[in-house]
Amino acid sequence: MHLPKQVKIVEVSPRDGLQNEAQTVATDIKIQLIDRLSATGLRVIEATSFVSAKAIPQLQDAEQVLAGITKKSGVAYPVLVPNEKGLQRAIAAGAQEIAVFASASETFSQKNINCSIAESLENYQAVCSAALQQGLQVRAYVSCVCGCPYEGEVKPEKVVEVAAALLQMGAYEVSLGDTIGIGSPAQVQALLDIVMQVVPKEKIAVHFHDTYGQALANIVAAMQQGITTVDASVAGLGGCPYAKGATGNVATEDVVFCLQGMGIETGIDFTALCAVGDFISKALGKENYAKAGTAFLASKA
Ligand code: HMG
Ligand code: MG
Repeated sequence: MHLPKQVKIVEVSPRDGLQNEAQTVATDIKIQLIDRLSATGLRVIEATSFVSAKAIPQLQDAEQVLAGITKKSGVAYPVLVPNEKGLQRAIAAGAQEIAVFASASETFSQKNINCSIAESLENYQAVCSAALQQGLQVRAYVSCVCGCPYEGEVKPEKVVEVAAALLQMGAYEVSLGDTIGIGSPAQVQALLDIVMQVVPKEKIAVHFHDTYGQALANIVAAMQQGITTVDASVAGLGGCPYAKGATGNVATEDVVFCLQGMGIETGIDFTALCAVGDFISKALGKENYAKAGTAFLASKA
């Protein structure tokens, strides 16, 4: 099996993990989560999102979260931004990196950001050029790459088109999101084969939700294709309110355990990571969905 020597993990729990949480999570818990994650060796932690409070009430404290965290040198704290208003808020809050998010499905685009794919790309063109001009870094997402909760099948060609457009705008990386966790390894490899004809593999990240239990298998499949950036969420937190039934992201603990077992370097301290998963699960009063995390914690109890 051909696998990379090193993989970068992008931790998305403070944003993707919490955005769908029904109970209001205290700002202080969010800050503690990020600060604890910063101490595990992670180099990228998506901290929050500057979206409409009506769309995502849970993250309306984005300013306070960014002001409260202790930014560790060498760690990037990107924030999700849907429009110029979000960009202005993010800049005012001191963000140095944003993430824009388009979809490969028309209906999901409408439900999630209230505009068509074409309109979203036009909007992101302006957002990206303003962000780059101000010296911010831009990351990008394409959602629904393996299927849409409203339309079902999504054409790989649409994924390529949207991913290429976002990179053209100056995003340094595009994260391919299996928003509803429906993809399986053969589909992921076939998709990557097509995307990599246009987008260099160094600029592709993968973002798997684990709804159908395929996320870890999909990550290994993607790594076999040469992908070296993987999004994950501690304790398997996550979901999207506009993707009914979508469960959590793949758990960071499970990814790190799996990669360590294959001799792949992540720079992350597994023990420290498991402690963070334990902290946030207890703070939310939720089951810890990380299998490796819970097994490890039980073995030490
Ligand atoms: P809209 O209603 O079309 O926007 O929403 P609007 O411009 O007409 O504004 C409506 C109201 O929202 C106004 O306030 C604006 O000021 C306010 P009002 O006058 O009614 O009081 N507003 C804002 N407030 C704060 N920050 C902003 C902002 N923008 C407008 N940035 C909009 C369009 C895009 C704003 C909205 O639909 C939205 O915020 N959507 C975000 C949805 C979201 O965050 N979804 C989850 C993230 S995507 C995801 O999870 C997938 C991913 O993980 C990858 C994967 O898994 O595939 C990334
Ligand atoms: Mg997601």
